[in-house]
Amino acid sequence: MSAHKSSTTFKLSTGASIPAVGLGTWQSSQSEVYDAVLAALKTGYRHIDTAYAYLNEEAVGKAIKDSGIPREEIFVTTKLASIQQLDPVSALNDSLKRLDLDYVDLYLIHWPVALNPNNKSHPLIPTLPNGDRDVLHDFDFIDSYKVLQELAQQGKTKAIGVSNFSIKNLTRLLEHPSTKIKPVVNQVELHPYLPQNELLEFTKKHDILLEAYSPLGSTNSPLLTDETIVKIAENHNVSPATILISWAVWRGTVVLPKSVTPSRIESNFLIVDLTSEEGKQLDNIHKEKGIKRLINPSWNNIDVFAED
Ligand code: A2P
Repeated sequence: MSAHKSSTTFKLSTGASIPAVGLGTWQSSQSEVYDAVLAALKTGYRHIDTAYAYLNEEAVGKAIKDSGIPREEIFVTTKLASIQQLDPVSALNDSLKRLDLDYVDLYLIHWPVALNPNNKSHPLIPTLPNGDRDVLHDFDFIDSYKVLQELAQQGKTKAIGVSNFSIKNLTRLLEHPSTKIKPVVNQVELHPYLPQNELLEFTKKHDILLEAYSPLGSTNSPLLTDETIVKIAENHNVSPATILISWAVWRGTVVLPKSVTPSRIESNFLIVDLTSEEGKQLDNIHKEKGIKRLINPSWNNIDVFAED
């Protein structure tokens, strides 16, 4: 079968369904994201991923409203920024106000690290005089997660999860006595240069979905010219991006390609059915090219991806 619009959905552990392909909006400015979300919804996307830290929630919400598509048909995710970790109640209320929504479908802890909200050197990423991020080393994301569970019970978010969590941090969260509601997803960087096979196996075992951010390899991606990917794309007569998105779905992960270009937003919603041979070729690229993590901010001596 040739390229077709994605209709795949996965089940969250809550029983809700989540469209496999969603629009990523990191690095999409307010002015760009409005048209991007409208273009995505017109194409058929029903899943939009944003975050407080992307500073574009207002425009995302306005586009959702202006699309005329009933709210319950769209899966909306936003995230608790590190600077908000001490007060998730206000953080989600503020996000809902900006989005002009009564609830989100998914609320994630964006990073397993809290930043000092009393340091006003920067609205999102405050730093110390030496330039390091002002990390609250004694604060535990377990305490934020406790509050997220309350927010889920109140219905302000239909489900809760995490992002940028390692196996070590996930294990601690799952084993903690205060964790009564399991995270439904872990959103992480995933692409053939960073397949995170152990994390994928671990999360599948625990009924947690992995969500792929930067699935195309982010800006100026070397993946789009990788010879294996280009060859498979030529075989299917589609773009390399379509192969990366199809591979993500093939291996059972949600995928969140970001674009503000309408033609790309449209083509990124196309999926091809990969043969198992092609899937394996894509699985094996990292063995030759090595592992490349593209997004790895410095958290003042905390290595959030330490053992992955
Ligand atoms: P733009 O937003 O200007 O269209 P990722 O999802 O891995 O973070 O990648 C996002 C980057 O890839 C952005 O620079 C985006 O550019 C670009 N991009 C998105 N879709 C495609 C595509 N189909 N082909 C080439 N580049 C793309």
